[in-house]
Amino acid sequence: MKKLIVLGSLNLDLVMTTSKLPNIGETILGEDIQYMLGGKGANQAVAASRIGQDVTLLGGLGDDTFGEKIRKHLAEENLDLTHVKTFNNMFTGIASIFKLPTDNSIVVIPGANHLVDTQYLTEVQSVIQKGNVLLSQLEIPLETVKEGMAFAKEQQMLTILNPAPYHEGVKEIMPFVDIVTPNETEFEGLCGQSWSTVAELEQEMLAWSEANQTQLIVTRGEHGTSYTNHGKVIHLPAIQVKVVDTTGAGDTFNGILAYELSQGMSMDDAVRRASIGASLSVQAFGAQTGMPTKAVLDQTDCA
Ligand code: RIB
Ligand code: NA
Repeated sequence: MKKLIVLGSLNLDLVMTTSKLPNIGETILGEDIQYMLGGKGANQAVAASRIGQDVTLLGGLGDDTFGEKIRKHLAEENLDLTHVKTFNNMFTGIASIFKLPTDNSIVVIPGANHLVDTQYLTEVQSVIQKGNVLLSQLEIPLETVKEGMAFAKEQQMLTILNPAPYHEGVKEIMPFVDIVTPNETEFEGLCGQSWSTVAELEQEMLAWSEANQTQLIVTRGEHGTSYTNHGKVIHLPAIQVKVVDTTGAGDTFNGILAYELSQGMSMDDAVRRASIGASLSVQAFGAQTGMPTKAVLDQTDCA
């Protein structure tokens, strides 16, 4: 069955706009605050559901008002939320995002995301089994991601891991991952080396992908996307857009990639659409706001 399952975090993003960060012990006045929907799992599921049907999100919320609000808003997104669990006596995950003039600093407090454990996984096994692709990230416990991916592999599903935020332990999960999608920093973590030229990057990508028997897609922001395909590295430039907020760009990439692959699209086409979608998404404030609908994506993707 063609169905994408996204296993991951749901957060409320508290986006505080400020011209600078306070020093230790200092208090400063910031400019603005916005409450936005976020969390890498929810973001990726939303990106997928904007361009198609049959997307299931698995994860957890707290039994607080934020949890209720998130569920209500996500319900407008054509997503299956039936198995997103509300955990009692726990708060919903929060990402405090300090939005600086040219950068972001983020502190994530996992809350309910932390309770998405292997017990939960057992409860949703029959749901995972209904999918053909499983997509996950690292904002829920590593053990859950590992077991989820291992189970999906047993079911002959395609598994995609976005190793964000980066965690050393991710290496244990690799045997169960078909496609891994780090950004440049996360790829440095994965391969344990830095690189300075594109030729070096290519070499490291091929060596890593070969050694781990995993297809590798490195998202490189304004430099586009580099990915391995049949023993070669392909570089896809990014389309030019006016950047408002890059939060969620990687999530848009992953959601679209996984969705298109679940529908049987070729790797080259899926990467191209994911990359265009990610560029489009940075034109709006917040992680989910700028994620394109299928109509908008089709319009920009003239290939
Ligand atoms: O990838 C962006 C997301 O990371 C934000 O929505 C925030 O919730 C953090 O988890
Ligand atoms: Na955005």
